[in-house]
Amino acid sequence: MDTRAYRLECLKESDVYEIDFPEVMQMKDTLLEAAMASINDLSALTLSSKSLTRVAADIRDKDWFKKLEESGFKPEKSTVWILEGIIYYLPHSQAMGVLKTIADNCRITQTVLLADFMNKQSTALSASNYHFYSDWPDHLLPSLGFADVKLSQIGDPDADYGLFHDPHNLFNKVRGLPRSIQIHPDDGTPCRRLYLVQAFGSPNQSISRTDSS
Ligand SMILES: C[S@@+](CC[C@H](N)C(=O)[O-])C[C@H]1O[C@@H](n2cnc3c(N)ncnc32)[C@H](O)[C@@H]1O
Repeated sequence: MDTRAYRLECLKESDVYEIDFPEVMQMKDTLLEAAMASINDLSALTLSSKSLTRVAADIRDKDWFKKLEESGFKPEKSTVWILEGIIYYLPHSQAMGVLKTIADNCRITQTVLLADFMNKQSTALSASNYHFYSDWPDHLLPSLGFADVKLSQIGDPDADYGLFHDPHNLFNKVRGLPRSIQIHPDDGTPCRRLYLVQAFGSPNQSISRTDSS
């Protein structure tokens, strides 16, 4: 349901593809049309990106990438993939399938992945909703084909947004602890973390094949 393509000037030379379920696409169209009809400033809903293509697909299915290509996506063009608020809802094998498909693109062109990963303790918040996790996305992604992974935790200087100065904030409570620690030594609570990941790959990289977790 994101509206980056309408909001971000920096996308003016980028072709944007959005993948979602058909019914969500339909609802988004309806909402955007209603918004357009109700505001006087029509320029507010002008595309900022060079183009926007909506692709109705379920990324749990094996054919999602084919559908993306059939919609005009060119794998040989430099690509930024954004998996935001989605990967942990997928079963492990399907999440790994999506990540592997994206990582395989590193062999074709400059590729950047921006994604958020829950650690294992976070998925326990809702066993019925959250499935995929990684305590070490910075090991997992290089094992799939990314050469370089930058990882932040919510509250870190580059993922702070001025909102995390309260020392009692739950994210701040675990940020200073080694990432291997699962239970907080002070009060025995689970160390729930959300990792924000930037992963980079290109055809010229040397691929590290470390173990995944
Ligand atoms: C929590 S939202 C985040 C969306 C986006 N990052 C944003 O900021 O608006 C998750 C989105 O993923 C879509 N989604 C969930 N599972 C999906 C799947 N298997 N295939 C395609 N889209 C899916 C949902 O319909 C929803 O629009």
